[in-house]
Amino acid sequence: MLLFTLTLSVLVLSACAGSGPQSYLEPAGEMAENIDKTWDLVLMLAAIVFFLVEGALIVTIWKFRHKKNTEVRPKQVHGNTAVEIAWTIIPAMILALLAVPNVKGILEIRKIPVGDDVLQVQVIGHQWWWEFRYPDLVDDQGNVLITANELYIPEKTRVNLSMTSADVIHSFWVPKLNGKRDLVPGKTSNLTLIADAAQDEPFFGQCAEFCGLSHADMRIKVYVTSAADFDLWAAAQLEPAQIPTDPVARAGYDTFVSTCAACHAATVQTPNGVEVIGKPYAPNLTNFGSRNTFGGATFENTTELLTQWIHDPSSLKPMNPDANVIPERILGMPSFGLSDTAVAELVALLEGWK
Ligand code: CUA
Repeated sequence: MLLFTLTLSVLVLSACAGSGPQSYLEPAGEMAENIDKTWDLVLMLAAIVFFLVEGALIVTIWKFRHKKNTEVRPKQVHGNTAVEIAWTIIPAMILALLAVPNVKGILEIRKIPVGDDVLQVQVIGHQWWWEFRYPDLVDDQGNVLITANELYIPEKTRVNLSMTSADVIHSFWVPKLNGKRDLVPGKTSNLTLIADAAQDEPFFGQCAEFCGLSHADMRIKVYVTSAADFDLWAAAQLEPAQIPTDPVARAGYDTFVSTCAACHAATVQTPNGVEVIGKPYAPNLTNFGSRNTFGGATFENTTELLTQWIHDPSSLKPMNPDANVIPERILGMPSFGLSDTAVAELVALLEGWK
């Protein structure tokens, strides 16, 4: 009885659980709604079958339970062709019925949106962060808008993600906006995002394909804004970073050029004009200060955490920088053994780049 009560309360209480930030049961866009509708249909049919089958089972057990002082036994039978045909045909019909919305939904979700109103975004999976490039959003020099981990999209807009990977297989999954889709090195896969409405809080997602040490810290934040706010954001992101005049941040810039630029790039306003400084193997830092998080959208972009990160990145996030043998194959940021002063200068630089 105790076991029964416990089991029942677990089942009943689980209905009280609040909705998680990555619950696909609360879709916030057309693609996720499509998936959710199919789920609702399957759940309803499965529930009907469950209660019929379990109900018949419980009734039978109760009716023919062993009673004291009686020798009544149910009629002993073996085989029943009619019943067996029925329970073969009915499930087959249910599955055939379910295949219709399933296949229809898959075709709808997989359709690559076309048209002038579609926002194109290239997604590149890296161990262990996301690169987002907006090929149609360029500055006067033709430099494409590039950011990391935090994806901005306007509301009610069809967004076509063209996705690939720089190293191993990753999977892009923001449950409230669409199902998951793998990013495979050397191939391009597509995923459509459409968000119903702008909101202050980002949608959460994460890499859904095990990709090594920091797979769990390869997270995604999707910010959905109004069309006007999106244009403001894009214009600000396309502004080049400035070489600071403040001496502390200026010293940080020198360290950026001599050390960080071996892997990180930034679009910088130099005396010779706008130049891309550095290499594109790690997150682009042009507007780093405008991001709310870093390190695979895992850490709040605070002075304290950024300081710790630059001192010793692996103390925050499990990585394998010892395996960085070729520049294109980065497995995490190493600790450069910079002095406290040098780190503080870099933090001042990066917090000012927004
Ligand atoms: Cu990338 Cu898991």
